[in-house]
Amino acid sequence: MNRSTNGLNHPIDLILACYPDDTAYLPTMQIIRSIRKMQQVSRRLAADGQTIGLVPTMGFLHRGHLSLIKRAQKNADCVITTIFVNPTQFAPHEDLDKYPRDEKGDIRKIREAKGDIVFIPKADEIYPDDFQTYVTVEKLTGTLEGKSRPTHFRGVTTVVAKLFNITRPDLAVFGMKDFQQACVLKQMTRDLGWPIRFIIAPTVREKDGLAMSSRNKYLSGEARKEARCLIYALRTAREMANSGVTVPKKIITEMRAVIKATCPSARIDYIALTDTTTLKPVSKVVRGTVCSLAVHVHGVRLIDNMKIA
Ligand code: PAJ
Repeated sequence: MNRSTNGLNHPIDLILACYPDDTAYLPTMQIIRSIRKMQQVSRRLAADGQTIGLVPTMGFLHRGHLSLIKRAQKNADCVITTIFVNPTQFAPHEDLDKYPRDEKGDIRKIREAKGDIVFIPKADEIYPDDFQTYVTVEKLTGTLEGKSRPTHFRGVTTVVAKLFNITRPDLAVFGMKDFQQACVLKQMTRDLGWPIRFIIAPTVREKDGLAMSSRNKYLSGEARKEARCLIYALRTAREMANSGVTVPKKIITEMRAVIKATCPSARIDYIALTDTTTLKPVSKVVRGTVCSLAVHVHGVRLIDNMKIA
């Protein structure tokens, strides 16, 4: 690994010195906003024998995102973190406009985490006028989140495919927090033949078990407390599975009861026990069964999951 601490002889500094036009220089970290520049830098890194790790995000970073950067740093010479609130993965009625943003804070956090490059493309460069090419993964997107948000994964796969093409990573890190997303992207990577190592990193949680998420910002007071209903339900599922219950319906009924008891106003979108590879509902809990759920807590849609056996 060629990680420099003073930033003066880092290979990226040398590369960017050749293309100084639209790069805001920061010691040890570069911010790139144009696709062309990002492509040039990635190619040069590869030509110089540096391996590239990619961590795609929509920003408003928390410790979950930072854990992915750390994981990528362990496995690649240079880590590119992308920040892009991707419009195509939001349905018209969803929260694109009010999705939380904090570019300055994000850049600071990535710098503190010793990230190498932050790529912040502009929406009109990713999706120029008359954009009309999308990537879709079929079967895996038909369940869980895909059922509730029918156009969501098409947006995710399309933007990640573009990010792969622009940055040409050797490895990419995604979070277990969005388990189905990780499965869908892994399938896309395999099907389209990109030579990218795929890492799925564990979910980082708050002390009380709530999975970290940029959308947790919308939760305050009672809503924040009651958001624990998801982890309570998942722990119940795991305990039941550990104690030998294998009938999904029994587990789901109990989970519903736990949610009702701990967040009476919750609206459950789905609770599902699925196979870890096909994401199809299981008829019996077996090793590797994953429990996923989506619940509206005081109007905020939260998702979480856990391997329960
Ligand atoms: P975003 O929600 O910002 O998440 C970026 C990455 O961080 C995803 O891989 C997600 O699974 C991971 N992540 C989120 N919360 C986490 C947590 N608590 N612990 C560990 N990892 C966590 O997911 C997206 O953005 C977008 O769909 C994207 C892939 C960037 C495409 O636009």
